Amino acid sequence: MRTIYFITGNKGKLKEAKSMLSKINVNVIQNNLGYPEIQADSLEDVASFGAKYIQKKIDSTFILEDAGLFIENLNGFPGVYSAYVFYTIGCNGILKLLDRVDTDIRIARFKSVLTYVEPDKKPRFLIGECHGKISKLEMGNQGFGYDPIFIPNGKTKTFAQMDTKEKNRNSHRGKSFKKLLRLLKDK
Ligand code: IMP
Repeated sequence: MRTIYFITGNKGKLKEAKSMLSKINVNVIQNNLGYPEIQADSLEDVASFGAKYIQKKIDSTFILEDAGLFIENLNGFPGVYSAYVFYTIGCNGILKLLDRVDTDIRIARFKSVLTYVEPDKKPRFLIGECHGKISKLEMGNQGFGYDPIFIPNGKTKTFAQMDTKEKNRNSHRGKSFKKLLRLLKDK
């Protein structure tokens, strides 16, 4: 069985990653080392900085993952600031902001940048996106972060109303990890 370290402090992400990677017999071990999330214009830049930072510290294969919620009516906000905005105003703050925008259209997308790094190799970036909308109310109590307010296209429930497997079948992270499964299968 192969082992991959997942550099994250987020138990929700860890659970989703374990569920995906167990399919190909990869053991995911959480590593809480952490890395500076630089202020940048794109998730790819944040990921790239993090990957180089961690590569200097550990000599094993690892992954890290940076995600963001991009809301069309808010010109892509919170985007790369998703963590800070969640910490400060949370789901409720986002709903209040959207209530002030004079429209019923609440189009949004989640993006996941999954970074896979082997010792002494260049990082590989695997991207997954999920298109959907922001709900009117918070719904559900599973998952984490903005899950209670995000409804993926083709569904009537939020990510927080789905179990891990169903969320993975639909989510940005499910898609980026699917790409990782393909990459690892070929190795
Ligand atoms: P980060 O990738 O950990 O920096 O995530 C940025 C912010 O988006 C954090 O507040 C997360 O809680 C939130 N977030 C990331 N992925 C998801 C997800 O799959 N569902 C809901 N919120 C998420």
